[in-house]
Amino acid sequence: MVETLRFRNGKLELVDQRLLPGKFKYVKCDTPREVWSAIKDMTVRGAPAIGITGAYGVYLGIKGFKGVTTRTIVQKVIKTAEYLATSRPTARNLFWGLERMVKTAKDNGGLPACELKKILLNEAHAILEEDKAICRAIGENGSFLVPKGARVLTHCNAGALATADYGTALGVIYSAKDRIREVLVDETRPVLQGARLTAWELVNEGINATLICDNMAAYMMSKKRIDLVVVGADRISANGDTANKIGTYSVAVNAKYHGIPFYVAAPSSTFDLTLRSGALIPIEERDPMEVKSLGGKLITVKGIHAANPAFDVTPAGLITGIITEMGVILKPSRSRVKIVLNRGSRSSQRYGTRA
Ligand code: MRU
Repeated sequence: MVETLRFRNGKLELVDQRLLPGKFKYVKCDTPREVWSAIKDMTVRGAPAIGITGAYGVYLGIKGFKGVTTRTIVQKVIKTAEYLATSRPTARNLFWGLERMVKTAKDNGGLPACELKKILLNEAHAILEEDKAICRAIGENGSFLVPKGARVLTHCNAGALATADYGTALGVIYSAKDRIREVLVDETRPVLQGARLTAWELVNEGINATLICDNMAAYMMSKKRIDLVVVGADRISANGDTANKIGTYSVAVNAKYHGIPFYVAAPSSTFDLTLRSGALIPIEERDPMEVKSLGGKLITVKGIHAANPAFDVTPAGLITGIITEMGVILKPSRSRVKIVLNRGSRSSQRYGTRA
């Protein structure tokens, strides 16, 4: 499976997802500014992947510091985290990763500066390794929900490219691979994460996959070509409302109408329990040119306005279950979210470990 992010020779290396599926190339980041740009321009994307990237970005901010006090390092960590937090607003995982680095710096503020630097690098490594274990656990927990011979629809890319490895929604698909007859892949306009990234991953993994335009999903449902839907998430509020890639909400409405189970797969780090409902989730507005063009070519007239909200919110009432590393939250509600998230990890020993 693809190694989406790796830390080599003191630099963060990211698969350049803007070039896929045509070209496979790593981009090297050596500074927080380069990390900020890589998140903003979607060289790296997907909620867990940008959380891990942000954590390494914080380390890169202090990597070159020599002969300074521990206090200087802690202050720089806070500043860098604040800066990286301005790159993209919706995915909770980004802020979660940054907050974890800041907490690590503050908790170890009594140590010598060189020790603290090592601890911060190890924390970023731990976040990456934990994500791998979490995705496997999500895959395993979700695989029991996939009936034999299932045809599954997914939207956007919630695979290895969106995480450290394996994915969340695609993790469920990989874990249930032997029981799945076909995966239908929404192309996911305007950035085409489905057509470019999910299609690439599934074909590489030898999974029977069929690409559809976003507006074909309801028709496929009406023709009984879809048995269940599984998607990822960028932020989930305390009551289970889920922000995910634009178009997810319409898939959920269509699934409800056709009586098809609709699952969300996400790590606990995607939950934002400070938000009572999905109405409070900040939705990123991206450049209208993403809508007005395709493959760098204008597909409409210059003078037209275009809207480009990058995410939408699916109300909890449309969600059959949220698959986490801690278990499945069926018919999500405030109390059910709390019960499952309080249960603690059911994944392997590696999850939750600190370096
Ligand atoms: O704009 P993107 O490509 O970062 O949006 C990604 C998604 O919406 C994914 O479905 C979500 O982050 C889950 S990734 C495991």
